[in-house]
Amino acid sequence: MNDTASHLDALRALVGARGLLAAPDDLSSYETGARYDRGRAAFVVRPATTAEASAVMAYCVRHGIGLVPQSGNTGLVAGSTPDASGGQGVLSLDRLAAPFEIDLANRSVTVGAGTRLSSLNERLAPHGLTLPIDLGADPMIGGMVATNTGGARFLRYGDMRRHVLGLEIVLPDEAGTVLDLTRPLRKNNTGLDLKQLFIGTGGAYGLVTRAVLELRRLPQQSATAILVPRDDAAVMELLVAFEERVGDHLAAFEGMSGAAVALALKHHDRLRNPFAPHPPPPFCILVEIERSWAARQQEPSIDALMEQVLAEVWTLPGEPLADAVPGRGADFWALRHVLTESLAAEGRVIAFDLGFARAAVMPFRRAMAEILAREHPEVRVCDFGHVGDGGVHFNLVVPRDSALALDPSPVRDLVFGEAVERFGGSFSAEHAIGRANQAFYERFIDPRQRGIAGAIQDLLAPGRLGAVDFRESAPAS
Ligand code: LAC
Ligand code: ZN
Repeated sequence: MNDTASHLDALRALVGARGLLAAPDDLSSYETGARYDRGRAAFVVRPATTAEASAVMAYCVRHGIGLVPQSGNTGLVAGSTPDASGGQGVLSLDRLAAPFEIDLANRSVTVGAGTRLSSLNERLAPHGLTLPIDLGADPMIGGMVATNTGGARFLRYGDMRRHVLGLEIVLPDEAGTVLDLTRPLRKNNTGLDLKQLFIGTGGAYGLVTRAVLELRRLPQQSATAILVPRDDAAVMELLVAFEERVGDHLAAFEGMSGAAVALALKHHDRLRNPFAPHPPPPFCILVEIERSWAARQQEPSIDALMEQVLAEVWTLPGEPLADAVPGRGADFWALRHVLTESLAAEGRVIAFDLGFARAAVMPFRRAMAEILAREHPEVRVCDFGHVGDGGVHFNLVVPRDSALALDPSPVRDLVFGEAVERFGGSFSAEHAIGRANQAFYERFIDPRQRGIAGAIQDLLAPGRLGAVDFRESAPAS
């Protein structure tokens, strides 16, 4: 970035002294991502209104300054941190928390992109409403839209896309054009649904400044259990058996490898081993059912429903259920939600966010574990994830001083190749495409599709916004 001081003065004039950070100590937390990514920012600019965001965008596009939007900075694919060049600015959404306008009749809310998920849900709870995207982290709405976050209750509620009724977008063009796509309509078949372009594309097409979200009823009853399947094949038998019996009241069906559970217990003294006095089995499933209405006297409780379903599943032909552990949902979810950080406490994590057709998850795990045991015996497979919706975080732990810790690319190439080419999966199921995935985007996405994505970026986004670029990957013509 040439002429840095005058750019900083100009940006400060647009957002005020509080809105611009340039001292190295102030930049550090914005330069560091949740998982190993660390870049260098020329500055951090923190607009407090859409008008300020638009003015900043216009200025940076006119002067060729790249910006990376950042909201909660909880993403796992280097999508919200600057690169190492020192030339990019971070556009932080943390002052864009207004408005908060709830529409009870429409069951929707309009929020600033800098609203935290936890604070949104705290404010919705008294109304019996929720944005039911369930995560271990606490991101902000702008990043959740840009990454199309999924989470642990995807099975029942779907992803972020499912909940976006409208968006306000600032385009990275010389005018900082504001696109108002915020009508709170569920039904609106009037041609191209433009807002969809900004969901899951990592900010490359535009900055989310405001979102209109459809809300769901807050669950009033839930029951949770941990299932131990007879073997790999039993996992799908159990999933189908639960769906047959409770339909879309099935809220979660989360797979956890014994290795991942063991690391959670090792690194968190306060967690209780659900299988005590035995060690965790090789694979188990956290299953949850929910109702969004309060218990009634005449109606069997949800705990009774869970017991009944388990009793039926227990006696299925072939006995797919080897064991079922009842317990408090809060305890089981505490275990589930610390898995990611527990692996990081143990060593260097080589993480994956893979998506498959549901029946391919368990065969992939087995095949991949066998290949790794043969070719990279130093790797520990500690996977977990959303087996009910075909997701698996096929995470690997290696010693911090190992060759693979310094350069995980041989293992990444191997796992992605098997997952995408042999098992027909996705290299990014729910974490989107940050800088970490750009090369795999280029490797696995068909050139014609990449050409379309690049052409859309040319049209909407002449400036440079976000950590990924769909144009760089467009095929040469
Ligand atoms: C999870 C995060 C890693 O499922 O997506 O815990
Ligand atoms: Zn996940």
